[in-house]
Amino acid sequence: MSDDVQVIFTPSGKRGRVARGTRVLAAARKLGVDLDSVCGGRGVCSKCMVVPSFGDFPKHGLHVEPGAVSGLNAVEQRYDKIRGLKPGYRLGCQTEILADVVIDVPPESQVHKQVVRKAASERVMEMDPATRPVYIEVEEPDMHRPEGDFQRLAQALEKQWQVKGVRTDLEVLRVLQPVLRKGDWKVTVALHDAGDGPRVTGVFPGLREAPLYGLAIDLGSTTIAGHLVALDDGRVLASAGVMNPQIRFGEDLMSRVSYAMMNPGGDQEMTKAVRDAMGDLARELAGEAKVGTEEIVEAVVVCNPVMHHLLLGIDPVELGQAPFALATSESLDFPAREIGIDASAGARAYILPLIAGHVGADAAAVALSEAPQRRKDLSLIVDVGTNAEILLGNNQRVLACSSPTGPAFEGAQISSGQRAAPGAIERIEIDPATKEPRFKIIGNDHWSTDPEFGTPRITGICGSGIIEAVAEMRMAGIVDASGLIGSAEQVGTPRCEPNGRTHEYVIFDGGLEGPRITVTQGDIRAIQLAKSALYAGARLLMDEMGVDTVDRVVLAGAFGAHISPKHAMVLGMIPDAPLNHVSSAGNAAGTGAHMALCSVKARREIEDQVKKITKVETAIEPRFQEHFVAANALPHATAPFPELRKIAPLPDVSFNTGGSGEDGGGRRRRRRG
Ligand code: FES
Repeated sequence: MSDDVQVIFTPSGKRGRVARGTRVLAAARKLGVDLDSVCGGRGVCSKCMVVPSFGDFPKHGLHVEPGAVSGLNAVEQRYDKIRGLKPGYRLGCQTEILADVVIDVPPESQVHKQVVRKAASERVMEMDPATRPVYIEVEEPDMHRPEGDFQRLAQALEKQWQVKGVRTDLEVLRVLQPVLRKGDWKVTVALHDAGDGPRVTGVFPGLREAPLYGLAIDLGSTTIAGHLVALDDGRVLASAGVMNPQIRFGEDLMSRVSYAMMNPGGDQEMTKAVRDAMGDLARELAGEAKVGTEEIVEAVVVCNPVMHHLLLGIDPVELGQAPFALATSESLDFPAREIGIDASAGARAYILPLIAGHVGADAAAVALSEAPQRRKDLSLIVDVGTNAEILLGNNQRVLACSSPTGPAFEGAQISSGQRAAPGAIERIEIDPATKEPRFKIIGNDHWSTDPEFGTPRITGICGSGIIEAVAEMRMAGIVDASGLIGSAEQVGTPRCEPNGRTHEYVIFDGGLEGPRITVTQGDIRAIQLAKSALYAGARLLMDEMGVDTVDRVVLAGAFGAHISPKHAMVLGMIPDAPLNHVSSAGNAAGTGAHMALCSVKARREIEDQVKKITKVETAIEPRFQEHFVAANALPHATAPFPELRKIAPLPDVSFNTGGSGEDGGGRRRRRRG
């Protein structure tokens, strides 16, 4: 009988010969098979579960006898008694290979497991987290040996895990000694390595059975949204959002830059405000997921350049003027506490690279998540927010720009506008014959005309609601192509009421009790400005690419996910395309942050991709203004929108009587934010 045996691991197909009696975990290490272990083979973490397979394997030319692996040893028997081994499952670190065998590594035992990111795109993401938990037993101190506790911890990592040259931060040293003693010299460390060498970023007493956690944060100008993610399989355990408190210094980005320019120390005030909010968000997420903030060992942040600089404590003044120079465009990896995140002592933060002075890490995150560079067809990806990030590209070339849409799409600057919250009108339909509306509010599944709708509190109209309202008004002939609301006589409904020198359309009148929800002429103008900026940005990229049409349009952003593609096209927010080629991608920037949190490979991919993206600067491009003015009409002054006309009525009405005080034109103050 030969002294070595053949072992084949599935699903990887890796195979090789090992000495008879080798344990499965050791064989996996030798053959480079991805088999998890936190305890280093001590039989306590149960991460190394494998399933030995027996019988005939003609594909592998192998017959496996039932005795090809050892029977349950004392450690496995104890585990089985206390926790119960699943039928067929074995602890890889305890099971010896005695003859030729096929060993299956189930997904839960793979560190680099594949996870489907989300059902919509079915994109498969590989887990490749920068931080993993590692259990070690550290030698106790001895009067005769002068090394410190950390040096003995580093020796344990080297001896027990072959991890050499580990570093740590002062913050970790501050908590190390009590934790070592509490764990009786047995600890689980959070070991971070994103290609820059191993670093201890957290330390927990004893064997840590729960996973480590990370935060994926999308820091927007208006809201800061975050997910708390388990770093073993990438699942989201909690999601929350807080307002960006910098709003009190200015609603849009440029007004915040101006605040920093006009007020000495203003940038520092804004830095402090956003860092405080990051801390609040971390605590809120940890509370919701019922984990301690010290269990959070990493954070990935995506944001636009102004938010980026203010978060890092860099004065954003250069971003307010051409040539819009960034302090740094590269990705950054630094202690998370520096940006206010309440986390483990040595937790790291990673910020994706920036594309350019106006196109930030949030756009890079969208590129990572939507990956237009992997597709043959031409995608236009629009991340709708206070500042829209726009990507246009395919596997040949990707272009990017940002466009200052302002906060109207988020319900701000709208007379009855409000954030998306229960009670807000989010959907609306207007009967083109009677001009009567019906609507749905957040938190109620019924149309307002259904008896089941009841008498809920109606509070306002949110961003997706105002888009639908204006588009429906256009389709019902209440608003003309120039954006003017007609009078009651012109339109034929008493719902069009005078409001100063213009008119407003009454969606809901709660009488003395309730709110009166209307769409005013000012609201239409605010939406026209926002949508023209969006369209003009997209059009500029299409000019640069030399195309008149795109193959698909993706609406991204937390808000983009709620926009009805048809209504967006009636407004002319996006270029004309067959409706079934327009889709929503949800919060693509947040998804990109999540991907970068779960995978070092994804970080390298986007760092590489960002260097290849061609940046188009809208602020200094004269054609932007031309496109902007033409895009002011609903849907557009010159573009014919043939696809849209197939599916939506666009009545040829005009309410410009020449004396309304409204010119229907597209004058605007140039603004970013
Ligand atoms: Fe921890 Fe096997 S490696 S139980």
